[in-house]
Amino acid sequence: MKILSIETSCDDTAMAIVECNGTLNNLSTKLISNAISSQTKLHAKSGGIIPNLAAREHEKNLIPIFNEVLRLAKIKKQNLGKEIDLIAVTKGPGLQPSLLMGLNFAKTLAYILNKPIIGVNHLLGHILSNFIKNNEEFKNEIKLPLVCLLVSGGHTQLYKINSWDKIELMGETLDDASGECFDKIAKIMKLGYPGGVFVSKIAEQFRNKNKNCKQEFNLPKPLINSKDYNFSFSGLKTAVLYLVQRLKKEKKFNKKVSERICFEAEEVITDVLVHKTLKLAKDINAKTVMISGGVSANQRLRSKFLEKIGGEFDFVCPDKLMSTDNAAMIAIAGYYEYLKGKKDDCLTLEVDANLQI
Ligand code: KG4
Ligand code: ZN
Repeated sequence: MKILSIETSCDDTAMAIVECNGTLNNLSTKLISNAISSQTKLHAKSGGIIPNLAAREHEKNLIPIFNEVLRLAKIKKQNLGKEIDLIAVTKGPGLQPSLLMGLNFAKTLAYILNKPIIGVNHLLGHILSNFIKNNEEFKNEIKLPLVCLLVSGGHTQLYKINSWDKIELMGETLDDASGECFDKIAKIMKLGYPGGVFVSKIAEQFRNKNKNCKQEFNLPKPLINSKDYNFSFSGLKTAVLYLVQRLKKEKKFNKKVSERICFEAEEVITDVLVHKTLKLAKDINAKTVMISGGVSANQRLRSKFLEKIGGEFDFVCPDKLMSTDNAAMIAIAGYYEYLKGKKDDCLTLEVDANLQI
């Protein structure tokens, strides 16, 4: 079946058309078209997202992105009803004003085209972003049981998946998400937005110039040795804030020092994420370790997982384009819910900004 999907939970206006076939265990997917409009430049000015501004941008971008996704799929607007079988849209979690824009657009389309609509969980979309490839067909050969680390701007969670229809939350951050921590560290040092991209680029350059470099600032690795599967990143953010304030006072804060802080912060964040994920994987005798969400685009995180896993588990990570917010993953989540028998109604489907899995 062909699914048109719409994602506007945060600051990206995205749509995709995806062909999905099979059951969850032998699922196959093919990306037909994928369009996205990012608001990064707009929010870079404030160093973070202003929800009402984001919603206004979605309003401007929805029709152009709709035209683009149809153009890329070579579908004429008047034939859309014949070409697609289902509309999937993000219903939450996310910024309420942003979610409302995409949901209303999707409901109007579904109503006029007389197509079924499914409102999906953005987090489920991230987990299933591993079920689609950018340039090739995907066939599900991922081995279970599996541990999935979901690391995005708003979430840091660990899931256990024993069978595809049962996704169990095992632990999550008690305060800030790891992506938020990257973003705030970047904001403290005025590096740019979204912070993770800037911090990781600077950290990589530092690492390349300073091989075998040791930690100097002793940044904390919160909850690394706790017995549960939870995380905490707000203490690390505060430690970086106090460190930068102290170094500025002592007139020791400069470009080189800020590069080192990026390197050290990325090391501690990735150490904690890898350690806790592998602890859960060992505890449940997992066969596969999977990562997803914007922070899973981080190269250091990917190589640290590969290095620490050795041959013990299979390692699955999304195409980098599918790590950050996109609509293709929403189509897969829509198909997942469709297979489970979920149906929504245009008249009653609502956003839920705090939706959980
Ligand atoms: O999944 P996502 O695109 O949006 C949410 O659902 O939140 O994740 C965005 C987060 C931001 O915090 C951003 O700084 C982070 O992902 N991010 C990265 C990288 N690319 C994006 N963090 C670390 N390294 C990266 N390369
Ligand atoms: Zn996301």
